[in-house]
Amino acid sequence: MTLDQIKALIRTVPDFPAPGIQFRDITTLIADGRGLASAIDHLAERVPQGTSAIAGIEARGFIFGTALATKLGLGFVPVRKAGKLPVETIGLDYTLEYADARIEIDPSLVSEGERIVLVDDLIATGGTATAAAQLLRQAGAHCDTALFVIDLPELGGADRLRAEGVESHSLIEFA
Ligand code: PRP
Ligand code: ADE
Repeated sequence: MTLDQIKALIRTVPDFPAPGIQFRDITTLIADGRGLASAIDHLAERVPQGTSAIAGIEARGFIFGTALATKLGLGFVPVRKAGKLPVETIGLDYTLEYADARIEIDPSLVSEGERIVLVDDLIATGGTATAAAQLLRQAGAHCDTALFVIDLPELGGADRLRAEGVESHSLIEFA
């Protein structure tokens, strides 16, 4: 499937979850078997050699991240919303397009010096992905690549990540 065909499977919902937000909804993409498989294939092409694990951000990053990890035979590190992990965590507060939030990881899942690729469905302001990359690095990983299905370039997330030393690759843009 081409990237344009994948884009056509993404639904736009106006004014969700707040007035003025054009919500880019991937549920219509993942409900399509060929669309989901093709999105994972395109993401897999962008995973650098030497990657040892995939980290995905709760909740939508779990869908693409675990499928990608499975395809590549890699492990998966969950980046969770606050208060969900049953062990001692490291966490960061951050701001996204329509809310404030906190994410946490279990640092014992990360080996010193391993190369982890971050995956999420979408990058908007980059607040979530920047916080996730910082946490993975704090736990000892190299994290210099992040993959997204969707980029909203007007919100500057990819630039913000690049300023942190993380290159991002996205399959689709919505202006
Ligand atoms: C969405 C999306 C990204 C984040 C992007 O998640 O899945 O994780 O927002 O926004 P940012 O680039 O401005 O940080 P959300 O927090 O809505 O959670 P969900 O996956 O649980 O729906
Ligand atoms: N996360 C942040 N901004 C978003 C948007 N416009 N659509 C879907 N998810 C988002």
